[in-house]
Amino acid sequence: KCPIYITRHGESMHNLRGLIGGDSDLSPNGRAYGQALADFIHSEQFHEDDVDELTVWTSTLRRTIETASYLNIPTVQWRALIEIQVGICEDMTYADIEERYPAEWAARKRDKLRYRYPQGESYMDVVQRVEPVIFELERMQAPVLLIVHRAVARCLLSYFADYDQHDIPHLEVPLHTLLKLEPKAYGCDIKTHKLDI
Ligand code: G3H
Repeated sequence: KCPIYITRHGESMHNLRGLIGGDSDLSPNGRAYGQALADFIHSEQFHEDDVDELTVWTSTLRRTIETASYLNIPTVQWRALIEIQVGICEDMTYADIEERYPAEWAARKRDKLRYRYPQGESYMDVVQRVEPVIFELERMQAPVLLIVHRAVARCLLSYFADYDQHDIPHLEVPLHTLLKLEPKAYGCDIKTHKLDI
């Protein structure tokens, strides 16, 4: 079984401004992460895993494609890997949502796993949406690096590490960190590389 690498895209302009949703570009820090990730992946340390075999999967959103662009490795874009769709809360801060849609805010707090944004998705929706990608990943004979989004990374991680579904929306997946998942009989070993930028 091949290792699977998961990272979030580099910091985006929306991350910098505290906004959710949208399709923003990377911030200067985010671009530095793209470069740091490329340096790491092309380093001696990584060569042990045979970088020549690696393929990169992104979503169809700019921040993941831009992060991948530093790598010079063949890339596949999956619409099924886009970030959780936040519907009417697109391009808002969490404080905006709390103020403008207090009932939605409270409902999400009560059940973050099942809460579905009006005109958007829930974590359970995302779990279902990424299923075809997981099937494909499980058939792969070569390592894959997924450059994705926080909610999607949480869903993938919980699947491979066999975490309880209720923990999915609360898993810590920091920016600018590469996770290496090595499958074992049950679940997987996870190594974390925080990359300096
Ligand atoms: O909405 C986009 C976020 O990256 C997901 O975070 O589910 O903790 O709000 P959240």
